[in-house]
Parts: sequence; C-alpha cells; structure tokens
Amino acid sequence: MPSIRNLILLLVSVLASFSNCITVFFDDGSYSCNPRPDNATTAAFKTNLNSLLSALEEKAPDSYGFYAAAAGENPDRLYGLAQCRGDVSAPDCASCVKDSVRWATRSCNNSNEAAVWLDRCYLRYSDGNFLGQWNGSRIALTPINMSTTDDPSVAAKGRNFMSLLAADAPNQPFLFEAGSVDVGERGRRYGLVQCNRDLSVAGCRNCTAGLFKFYFDGEKRNQSSYRLFSYGCRMRYDSYKFYFNYTLPSDPPQGMSAASATSTTISRSKTASEQLRCGNSSDDDALASVFKFINLGLQKCRAYRAAVGDRHNRHS
Ligand SMILES: *[C@@H]1O[C@H](CO)[C@@H](O)[C@H](O)[C@H]1NC(C)=O
Ligand SMILES: *[C@@H]1O[C@H](CO)[C@@H](O)[C@H](O)[C@H]1NC(C)=O
Ligand SMILES: *[C@@H]1O[C@H](CO)[C@@H](O)[C@H](O)[C@H]1NC(C)=O
Ligand SMILES: *[C@@H]1O[C@H](CO)[C@@H](O)[C@H](O)[C@H]1NC(C)=O
Ligand SMILES: *[C@@H]1O[C@H](CO)[C@@H](O)[C@H](O)[C@H]1NC(C)=O
Ligand SMILES: *[C@@H]1O[C@H](CO)[C@@H](O)[C@H](O)[C@H]1NC(C)=O
Ligand SMILES: *[C@@H]1O[C@H](CO)[C@@H](O)[C@H](O)[C@H]1NC(C)=O
Ligand SMILES: *[C@@H]1O[C@H](CO)[C@@H](O)[C@H](O)[C@H]1NC(C)=O
Repeated sequence: MPSIRNLILLLVSVLASFSNCITVFFDDGSYSCNPRPDNATTAAFKTNLNSLLSALEEKAPDSYGFYAAAAGENPDRLYGLAQCRGDVSAPDCASCVKDSVRWATRSCNNSNEAAVWLDRCYLRYSDGNFLGQWNGSRIALTPINMSTTDDPSVAAKGRNFMSLLAADAPNQPFLFEAGSVDVGERGRRYGLVQCNRDLSVAGCRNCTAGLFKFYFDGEKRNQSSYRLFSYGCRMRYDSYKFYFNYTLPSDPPQGMSAASATSTTISRSKTASEQLRCGNSSDDDALASVFKFINLGLQKCRAYRAAVGDRHNRHS
C-alpha cells in the first residue's frame, strides 16, 4: 500500500502562482497534481474520474501497455492515458497501472489534472484533451537517481548511445526501444527510450530530442544512472540491464477509444519538475539542479520531496 510517511516541504517557491500545481518526488517516481483552488469536486467529476481510471486500468495491460480514453461530457469531461514500459509484461503492467491509479486517487483526488510517473508505467488525466499533442511546451522533467558517476570517457560513450537511441525509438512501431552499448573495461551501459503511443512519429522525435537536450544541453553530465520523465516520453540509462527481454509485434494496436479523439479542448497543464535523490536534504548539487530546471521558466510549481516508507512499485 503506498503511503507517504513524511512529506518534506522543499524550498522551491511558487514564482507567481496562478496554479496550485504540486509535484511530489519519491524514490522511483513522482506525481504532479493540480488541485482545484477550492478543493471542490463535483459528483460528475468523481464519476468520470472513476470510470476513466477503471477503463485505463482494465484495458492498458491487454493493449500492449497503452490505452487512452475519455469519460463524461463537458464541462466535466476527462481525458486520460495509461502506458507501461514497452518491455513490461501484461501482469506487471497491470500491477503498475494499479499502483499509479492508487497514487492518483489518494494524492490527487481533488485535482482536475494529474500525472504519475513510475518506473514501469505512466498515468495522466486532465480535463483538457492533451491526447496526441506534444509540442514541447509542456515538459515535466524528473531525473531520478543521479547518485553515481562514470569516467568521462565512459559517460561520453553512454551519451552518444542514448542520443542515437533517442533518435531511433520514434521510428519503432511502439515508439519504444531498449538496448545496450559496450563501454570497454567498464562493461556495458543500458538504455531505454519510449514515447506515449498517442504521439505521432514527429511528435515523439520532438519529445525525445527535447528531453535529451534539456538534460544534457551545455553540460557533459557523467551520471551512470538516470531516469528522465516528461509528459510525452521517458528515458532511462543505467549500468545494469534493468529492462526485460521483449518482443513486440510490428503492427501495434491503436489502443485508443474513439471517444478520445473527438474533442479539440486544449490542456491547460503545465508542469516542470525535477527529481533528486530522496531522503538526502544535504544534497546541494541536486537542489541546485532543481532550481536550474524550474528557472527555465517551464513551470511554476511547488515541489516536495517525499520520503516513502513503502516501496510502492517493486513487484519483482
Ligand atoms: C485544499 O486542500 C489542501 C490539502 O488538504 C489544503 O492545503 C488547502 O489549503 C486547501 N485549499 C482550500 C482553498 O481549502
Ligand atoms: C479525497 O481523499 C480524502 C482523504 O482520503 C477524502 O477525505 C476526500 O473525500 C476525497 N475526495 C474525493 C473527491 O474523493
Ligand atoms: C503548444 O500547444 C499548446 C496547446 O495546444 C499551445 O497552447 C501552445 O502555444 C503550443 N506551444 C507552441 C510552442 O507551439
Ligand atoms: C540508484 O543507483 C544506485 C547505483 O546505481 C543503485 O544502487 C540504487 O539502487 C539506485 N536507486 C534507485 C532508487 O533506483
Ligand atoms: C516540435 O516542437 C516545436 C517547439 O518546440 C514545435 O514548434 C513543433 O510544432 C513541434 N513539432 C511537432 C511535430 O510536434
Ligand atoms: C563530467 O566529466 C568531465 C571530465 O572530467 C567534466 O569536464 C564535466 O564537467 C563533468 N560533468 C559534470 C556535469 O560535472
Ligand atoms: C535475454 O536475452 C539475453 C540476450 O539475448 C539472453 O542471454 C538471456 O538469457 C535472455 N533472458 C531471458 C530471461 O530470456
Ligand atoms: C547524502 O549525500 C551525501 C553527499 O552527496 C552522501 O555522502 C550520503 O551518502 C547521502 N545520504 C543518503 C542517505 O543518500
């Protein structure tokens, strides 16, 4: 059962708050909510949210890990998607989506939009139709576990590998690719890149290139482990093989209900965030990088760091 035992207010301040957006980080993931200013949710909202989340929970695992849908009618209509990592089995996907739904309903239940990033899956809902859209303006960046570094020469090989993977994953039928690179004496490094399957190839490319650039631009970062999440795509790099062997068909199912494609409402969501090592408040480097990302002006968001007692998404 996920529980946030200890919520520590982090120092990121709201620059000019028109939004109530809150982002919370924990060891393996993060969530972001936008609570209604008055905390008031209507009965229709609750009904729609429940039916949307149930549909995602039920259908995503059996649709090769991706489902998008809408529920209800305006003004209470909600849009959502759930997506699992491309290498994750249907049962693991089901349990991850379940966890993400639990986070959303417990922690964001007064929010008209929310996103939950876990290691093996992603969940998002909003009262604006964000499906199929990604133009770079809504980045949420959550680099996780930047605790260990590599020799610069190894790191350079890893960066090169990841930039190739970021360029190639959008060409894959599932907008997903995982692989490894030989870095010499230090062995291999492993990477994974994935876009949400509602995106076009061009939108995916935009997202992965943007995520890569956002993280590395101007800095030859040497981390041997990082996870980057955004609203449209994710990237993970590590020194061990963290992904499962996978085979995917060459022709992916659509995984999107017809209902979701009909509205032209625009999402109002804007969130940028950054993850640090959790439970280490003396980590000045990590804090500095939070400020750096927040200061890029992509978001005005309160950020919290959570010490999570229970490991919520470890199932293996
Ligand atoms: C809404 O709920 C949050 C969390 O319980 C609380 O901090 C906030 O003050 C509430 N806002 C209003 C306007 O009641
Ligand atoms: C949200 O959760 C809180 C605490 O569990 C509960 O008191 C409240 O009624 C819930 N609100 C909705 C809209 O479900
Ligand atoms: C991105 O899309 C949103 C919603 O469709 C729009 O408001 C915003 O201006 C767009 N940004 C760019 C840079 O095109
Ligand atoms: C962070 O990275 C270190 C070293 O690679 C690893 O031992 C640790 O388990 C990682 N932590 C998480 C939460 O993944
Ligand atoms: C890519 O992003 C840029 C802005 O960052 C936007 O102008 C362009 O329309 C996007 N292209 C696609 C295909 O989403
Ligand atoms: C990575 O290592 C290289 C070589 O030591 C160094 O120049 C660079 O500043 C390091 N990157 C960061 C972000 O510390
Ligand atoms: C995964 O693939 C690797 C390389 O092809 C192979 O050595 C390994 O046995 C496979 N693992 C499983 C569990 O199938
Ligand atoms: C906190 O950070 C310091 C310095 O980077 C490190 O030595 C220490 O092990 C970290 N503590 C935890 C609990 O991660």
